[in-house]
Amino acid sequence: MLEKINETAAYLSARMHTSPETAIILGTGLGSLVNEITEKYEIPYNEIPNFPLSTVEGHSGKLIFGKLGDKEIMAMQGRFHYYEGYSMKEVTFPVRVMRELGIKTLFVSNASGATNPDFEIGDLMIITDHINHFPEHPLRGKNIPYGPRFPDMSEAYDKELIRRADEIAAEKGIKVQHGVYVGTQGPTFETPAEYKLFHIFGADAVGMSTVPEVIVARHCGIKCFGISVVTDLGVEGKIVEITHEDVQEAADKAQPLMTTIMRELINRA
Ligand code: HPA
Repeated sequence: MLEKINETAAYLSARMHTSPETAIILGTGLGSLVNEITEKYEIPYNEIPNFPLSTVEGHSGKLIFGKLGDKEIMAMQGRFHYYEGYSMKEVTFPVRVMRELGIKTLFVSNASGATNPDFEIGDLMIITDHINHFPEHPLRGKNIPYGPRFPDMSEAYDKELIRRADEIAAEKGIKVQHGVYVGTQGPTFETPAEYKLFHIFGADAVGMSTVPEVIVARHCGIKCFGISVVTDLGVEGKIVEITHEDVQEAADKAQPLMTTIMRELINRA
């Protein structure tokens, strides 16, 4: 595993002419941040040794390097979901490579269904904590010596970054919620009973990503910040049939606000 990570990092280092300490996983709601990256250069996933091959037709995904404002960044356009059939080691492989490349802070976005009755479709939820509800733990197996065998998770999402994001949201007049994100394997959306269970668990929103990457990033000592866009309501009395298209549509509407917060936060971080 370490050999593969090192091989991939060495390949990328040789093609990189910048030294970013900031990485972004461009999940749902953050696609348009790409348009704000300057001095851009890209490396498609299918050219990168040991990178998982994308299952989505026509889109292999790519790493994008460049600047966001004055900050050098690397961004993942296209992430690997567990529901697509990747192992947890594959889902989180890019994060370990990031660590080898010198990344210190990771920004992520995703879409979720709200279980908190105070939330509305289109709300942005700053992730304050998570519940790992995936069937396999990403750190299961021989410990990679990037961190301890039993890593601390008392501050998975960096409190200082959350504070600054709140400041930016207030300054820009953007409404944000705070909440706990529960990550599940999908690919089904939840039944009403499951949404209810997750609410009782202490989750405010449920989605199918992010938790594995954040766990591995924390194991590597990388600071994390995440925002989830609420695309549907898993709240008793408000649950309606949903499709992937509904999720996409709600996320697209919230995209400009999500992009503003992330751009400003990354710039000032
Ligand atoms: N459940 C799980 N994942 C999701 C949801 C949901 O309701 N909405 C967007 N991603």
